[in-house]
Amino acid sequence: MTAYLHGYIPKEQQRLMDQAGVLGSLIYPRVDFSGCKKLLEVGSGVGAQTEVLLRLFPDLEITCVDYSQSQIDRARQNLAFAGDRVKFVCQDARKLQVEENYDSVFICWALEHIPDAAQVLVAIKPYLLPETKLWFTEVFNSSFYFHPAFPGLTKYYKNYNDLQVSLGGNPDIGANLGNLLRNAGYREIGLFHGGFHLDQRKPEELKEITQYWKELMKSAASGMIEAELVTEEDVLAMEHDLDSIALNDNAVFFYHFIQVSATV
Ligand SMILES: C[S@@+](CC[C@H](N)C(=O)[O-])C[C@H]1O[C@@H](n2cnc3c(N)ncnc32)[C@H](O)[C@@H]1O
Repeated sequence: MTAYLHGYIPKEQQRLMDQAGVLGSLIYPRVDFSGCKKLLEVGSGVGAQTEVLLRLFPDLEITCVDYSQSQIDRARQNLAFAGDRVKFVCQDARKLQVEENYDSVFICWALEHIPDAAQVLVAIKPYLLPETKLWFTEVFNSSFYFHPAFPGLTKYYKNYNDLQVSLGGNPDIGANLGNLLRNAGYREIGLFHGGFHLDQRKPEELKEITQYWKELMKSAASGMIEAELVTEEDVLAMEHDLDSIALNDNAVFFYHFIQVSATV
């Protein structure tokens, strides 16, 4: 198993659950699995998105694939309420081998971490039924803009993305989803943007998202310190800058992720 930007400690596993709650209203309005019965979720983590999908689409049975046994174990606990509507597969999705076929696929915040993520799109294809519905949501980290341009956050964010690249990931993979799907032979590919453009018109939302962003950034802190990309002081400076943005009269906080829909 390759190193993973956010790590697998319990605090990070809880962060994934919290993240699904904070960002859910941005991710799910478009996602449509109506009429689908069997969904494959790749990089399902601790089941944070699975829980939302089970609730939104009561006819779905979901197979969760993750290559970390500790994520699968936590997902089993989180999704115990769903009984046999959920199955778990601990595998590298680039070499997927499963017994069933699927009419839907969901991937969220996972391809960004997978070196040569195109392999996942090829590996899942033999298991997809005609007209399978695919919905992916992935990062586009170059879209991040904030004002004032505080140096602590600027430095930390650059190093955060550099670490992900050094681990074989792609912090801008969202922008490439159209080509990745096209090159793997998928059809009817639709690209959409989602995210936030916050300022002092909505101070509560600005505060909530800057706090969320702080936890996201901190989730990579131990890896970044270990790789000598930042110091403890740099982590504190990043946190301080995010608190300051939330209070600044001229604050702007902008980020866009990319969603893609496709079929086989
Ligand atoms: C940021 S988490 C996202 C989890 C979930 N999709 C969510 O939004 O809460 C990314 C997950 O992808 C998994 N992952 C990374 N590389 C993988 C691979 N090659 N095959 C399967 N899962 C992988 C990690 O173990 C991790 O649980």
